[in-house]
Amino acid sequence: KAKYLKDYKKPAYAIESVDLLFELFEEETFVTNTMQIKKTDASVNDLTLDAVNLELLELSLNDLKLQESRYIIEEEKLTVLNVPDAFEIKIKNKIYPQDNTELEGLYKSGDIFCTQNEPEGFRSITPFLDRPDIMSLFTTTILADKKKYPVLLSNGNKIKCHEDFKERHGVTWHDPHPKPSYLFALVAGNLGSISDEFTTIQGNKVALNIYCDLGNEQKCHHAMHSLKASMKWDEEKYGRAYDLDIYNIVAVDSFNMGAMENKGLNIFNSAYVLADTDTATDANFMGIESVIAHEYFHNWTGNRITCRDWFQLTLKEGLTVFRDQCFSADMNSAQVQRIEDVKALRERQFVEDASPTRHPIQPESYISMNNFYTATVYEKGAEVIRMVYTLLGEKNYRQAMDLYFETFDGQAVTTDDFLWAMHECGDFDLELFKRWYKQSGTPRLHVKESFENGTYSILLTQKIPDDVDGKKQKPCYYPLKMGLLDRDGSEILAKTLIISKESETFVFENLKEKPVLSINRDFSVPIIVEYGEAQFAFLMKYDTNSFTQYEATQNFALRTISEIIESSAINDDFVDAYGHLLDLDVDLSYKALLLELPSVSAVMQLQKEIDFDAIYDAQDKLLLHIAQKYKEKLLDIYKQNHLPASASLEAKYIAKRAIKNRALKILSILKNDEVAELAQKQYEESLTMTDRIVALDVLENLHVSYAEVALQDFYNRYKDETLVMNKYFAILASSSRYDVLERVEKLQRDKVYDEKVPNLVRSLVGSFARNHKHFHAKDGSGYKFLADKIIEIDKINPQIASGLCGAFKVCDKMNKHNQDLIKKELSRVISTQGLSKNSFEIIDKILK
Ligand code: ARG
Ligand code: ZN
Repeated sequence: KAKYLKDYKKPAYAIESVDLLFELFEEETFVTNTMQIKKTDASVNDLTLDAVNLELLELSLNDLKLQESRYIIEEEKLTVLNVPDAFEIKIKNKIYPQDNTELEGLYKSGDIFCTQNEPEGFRSITPFLDRPDIMSLFTTTILADKKKYPVLLSNGNKIKCHEDFKERHGVTWHDPHPKPSYLFALVAGNLGSISDEFTTIQGNKVALNIYCDLGNEQKCHHAMHSLKASMKWDEEKYGRAYDLDIYNIVAVDSFNMGAMENKGLNIFNSAYVLADTDTATDANFMGIESVIAHEYFHNWTGNRITCRDWFQLTLKEGLTVFRDQCFSADMNSAQVQRIEDVKALRERQFVEDASPTRHPIQPESYISMNNFYTATVYEKGAEVIRMVYTLLGEKNYRQAMDLYFETFDGQAVTTDDFLWAMHECGDFDLELFKRWYKQSGTPRLHVKESFENGTYSILLTQKIPDDVDGKKQKPCYYPLKMGLLDRDGSEILAKTLIISKESETFVFENLKEKPVLSINRDFSVPIIVEYGEAQFAFLMKYDTNSFTQYEATQNFALRTISEIIESSAINDDFVDAYGHLLDLDVDLSYKALLLELPSVSAVMQLQKEIDFDAIYDAQDKLLLHIAQKYKEKLLDIYKQNHLPASASLEAKYIAKRAIKNRALKILSILKNDEVAELAQKQYEESLTMTDRIVALDVLENLHVSYAEVALQDFYNRYKDETLVMNKYFAILASSSRYDVLERVEKLQRDKVYDEKVPNLVRSLVGSFARNHKHFHAKDGSGYKFLADKIIEIDKINPQIASGLCGAFKVCDKMNKHNQDLIKKELSRVISTQGLSKNSFEIIDKILK
């Protein structure tokens, strides 16, 4: 069942062009697919096309209808026997987009026809060589009801309108750039839109359109602004301009992922397009900016140069995530962006990399490719590109990227091809560096310091995790940014070390006194540093690198929480150092991050056997101590930044909201009337969703009676805004209230909830699965609930179901009692009749 990277074979055919006709109806859709095909390997006779759920109506070769003896239909395959060297093949088949709940291929989101073809959705639309190294010219005609579907879109340029029918109409699109089938897209609907224009650096005018459900047009402006900023940024930073006359984006409510970079016709989860200050948080606005940029950047890193096969996914995803991270850093605060990116990496990717589903950024095998759109392929992949950038430096990196674009434009290539271009313009050990693509797990680096006669040395020892099959892996090669500070806190030196050996000593001479080490600055390498005797309190005060200053705070807090778990004593040095942070005069968004204590996910990664109750208790204890000791200062911070009220999206106001809401959340552990009043007032007077949702969350977790009033008010106000209802469900499912599971079960019957809409499932069921205290309840009720949901949702949408399976990844780090409960539930799920290969693959790994 599994596919292997080592089995890759070049295709024996080229599909030079494909002409598609879609006839859309309410019950079914007819697809007529005419392809011009040539053999690229003369020794083959038969043509085997990928075809899933194929209902074949007509099949002809060079205009001759084929006898049944000339072809074979198997599960997921259509084989045409004895084909000539060059020919035209025409296939007509029937599909049912209205019944497609998997949201892959052609489906309906509400009243909108739309597609999602990456990685292998196209084969359920029409038979094809559905692999990314087959690149063809696409011409697409869509015919549909004029009233219901006035807007008909596909890739490329609109070349013809067909108006000569009564109730129906049609449009023909042609895409001049050859592309793989996974980038094909089609949209039909009665859509609203906003339009704008961008002139490229070469002087070409590009029409920009963002489509959405009627009535949401005013929520598309931020996305449009982000799109134009991305287009400009790619020209300036990478010299890459857009290459069609039109760029369309469509927002749909039912979408499995964030968005999709289909050539000239991006399709988005509406959560990453629609925003205004009444319904979207500051974080939502940032998310939109970054996803819009991500999909736009794919036009060069993904579409013009694509992947040879799906094992190369990180070629386009790691690189494009790195590009969107740099873009966001340029648009906003670079130091905050870096911390946010690392935080996300550690919360999701580090956990994945320590679990039975861990895999290298370039996996060797998969059962369902959909399971490999992971934090590892994306985020760790981006960190690997960032290391290349650090190794080369800005100038050489740009040269290397130019070389990459020049050499491989129009091709489907591999990560080795990319690294070749990088290595041509840089000086690093290519073979050693490639290990990042083949090895899984988070490497560790142990630091041992010594100081003698003015000479300071650090002995750095790599600890490389075994791979998932228990095989030994090798040491890594990377750039390690570091600095040395003297005892007054001034910087003596800043340097990038090249780590290439398992163990190595670096020596620094002529020092008056033992310096303080600041290591892995900017998080230059995605590893875990094991400190000997790190001076966290000192670095919290003096580190000149904002990332390692943040890191020192986190590490000191983690150490403090671990000590509380062990001995219940609170380290006063940490509490004092934390007090110092409260007085720091720094960017307020950055300060809000500094003041945040480590998440449950961060603490659990330190535990051999995870004990969630102990983690929550220790966190609460530390937070309570801090809130009590610094109550006045926190109240001051709150008050100073709360007024004057503003809904402005300027960085200054976003920062004020961030720091004020951080203070409110810390204070909320006091659970007193004063805080309840602040939260109530903030809820009632809030001008932004950011303030409103934080207040609502605080109220809910204060367990005060006003919470019910606020929740009801919120529900009434927003019940018709599905994106806001996602937030509502998430708050309730993440609540600390003892009866949270009961409420989640009840909410599933709420008329706003719809199990077919992935966003809603993720906010209700997904949030509950991350509510560790309740999900891991000792009576097994959380596990049973999720297992039942997985079985149910797997029948509707296997991708969403397998995503939920991920909550069980921590199984082998739990205590025996919980492990047994999890295994019992997972065994029940895996033996379910007709379970998808998506869910099977994940559960099988966890159970092994
Ligand atoms: N290429 C898309 C992006 O990175 C994601 C597509 C994910 N598709 C999937 N079936 N998992 O923006
Ligand atoms: Zn992507």
